[in-house]
Amino acid sequence: MQHYLSIKDIDNIKNAIESCIEIKKSPFTKLQLANNKTLGIIFLNPSLRTKISTIKAAQNIGLNVLPIDVNNGWSLEFSEGVVMDTNKPEHIKEAAQVIAKYCDMVAIRAFAKLMDKEEDYKEQIFASFKKYTNCPLINLESTLRHPLQSLADILTIEEYKNIQSLKKLKVVLSWAPHVNPLPHAVANSFAESMQLMDYEFVITHPKGYELDPEFTKNASVCYDQDEALKGADFIYVKNWSSTKYYGKVTNTDQSWMINKNKLKNAPYAKVMHCLPVRRNLVIADDVLDSEQSIVIDQAENRLYAAQYVLSEIIKTLDKKENRLKS
Ligand code: CP
Repeated sequence: MQHYLSIKDIDNIKNAIESCIEIKKSPFTKLQLANNKTLGIIFLNPSLRTKISTIKAAQNIGLNVLPIDVNNGWSLEFSEGVVMDTNKPEHIKEAAQVIAKYCDMVAIRAFAKLMDKEEDYKEQIFASFKKYTNCPLINLESTLRHPLQSLADILTIEEYKNIQSLKKLKVVLSWAPHVNPLPHAVANSFAESMQLMDYEFVITHPKGYELDPEFTKNASVCYDQDEALKGADFIYVKNWSSTKYYGKVTNTDQSWMINKNKLKNAPYAKVMHCLPVRRNLVIADDVLDSEQSIVIDQAENRLYAAQYVLSEIIKTLDKKENRLKS
């Protein structure tokens, strides 16, 4: 694996899930794998799970972690050919190349700003590192994707699925209300990852919240949430902001919140959420505090997904180094 920017960077998802399960059983068997390599991590937005799971995963394979502090006025210029007389003292051209000298791989979180779709979709920081360096990149959540999350999500579904059941697994991605405009990355990545699996996949949301077809492909979309949830084995709950009115909150209909009553036609469904989750706004206490919720196990799996991805990138770097030596 050269980079991990999308779930599509995994060659064989079945083998990847098996590897994550092996890592989960014995996370400390490759303590020397990284052999003094360094991972730089850049968080332009807050994080609990992604930050901790990535650092811990790195520690488990002997990978040094270098947090790159960008929250104290690290304002970068991205435009070409500008006179740098503004409050942006450093150009990404130099910054990316310098970071690549100190680090063997770089992991970045840079959320969509949700003001200008075209600007967000450029994913400038990732594009710049790709343009100016050969450094392997790991997506810790960008405008478009959150692939470490979706790998952990698939791992969780595969662990919890009833292997005795003869019917195709039904997985539903359900929009839920929220007070703030949230990015589309988690929903996009989950939809994208579902294309790799042999599940029945249904997306339910109000009109005006259609996800980009690049991620949903031919997934079935149902605007009637109760209908969509019928017979679901897994319900992935997530808010995202409007796509029709990019980045706006145009619907706060509380009837979309997942509560026990909503699960009446899916009584055995497992409920997932990437976290953080706003209780009694997105998912009610009577679900989050019930046996049907698997959100904590899902969060735990972030660790094994990250350890798998970092290990695969290190193996590719080692192969390159060996080729250069021979
Ligand atoms: N799910 C997730 O990415 O959580 P954090 O924002 O806490 O990293």
